[in-house]
Amino acid sequence: MAAHPRIAIYPGSFDPPTFGHLDIISRASRLFDRVVVAVLTNTAKQSSFSVEDRVSMMRELLADAPTVDVDSFQGLLVDYARRRDAVAVVRGIRNGTDFDYEQQMASMNRHLDASIETVFLSPSAAYAHVSSSLVREIAALGGSVRGLVPPSVEARIEQRRGAARTQRA
Ligand code: PNS
Repeated sequence: MAAHPRIAIYPGSFDPPTFGHLDIISRASRLFDRVVVAVLTNTAKQSSFSVEDRVSMMRELLADAPTVDVDSFQGLLVDYARRRDAVAVVRGIRNGTDFDYEQQMASMNRHLDASIETVFLSPSAAYAHVSSSLVREIAALGGSVRGLVPPSVEARIEQRRGAARTQRA
């Protein structure tokens, strides 16, 4: 590895992690010496899985990826990126809607800290329709999330649905 490893932060809510996220992580790992998957501890947004659950799901999924770390963060992304000595933030872009939003966020992050670049990566076309919010909606309405999330995440969603059913009974 280089004397100064090139570190990228891949931030997100990951609520829950999807195959699309894993696809982006694998692409980013080919470009950077180290990728830090940074799970947002979001106090404002109501999340489906706790930050601890999301971190542990990601750690399980990435156990065999030696150059990928999983962490959580709160506050400004640029502050976190600086603390981790990152040179870049990686974001996945599936379509024009993502681009409009991400472009604004990248410009704002550049305004806050011009030394951190944002790198946009596009996932495989197989995952262009996959989002955590749609996965949550499908799961809440009793649909199958097979093929959208890894089996271990599917099992956690199933487990929660089972627990919710028991509570209602
Ligand atoms: O998976 P998401 O919810 O699209 O991820 C959004 C995330 C975590 C990248 C964004 O909300 C973020 O960076 N939050 C940290 C707070 C911050 O730095 N806000 C200013 C960004 S312009």
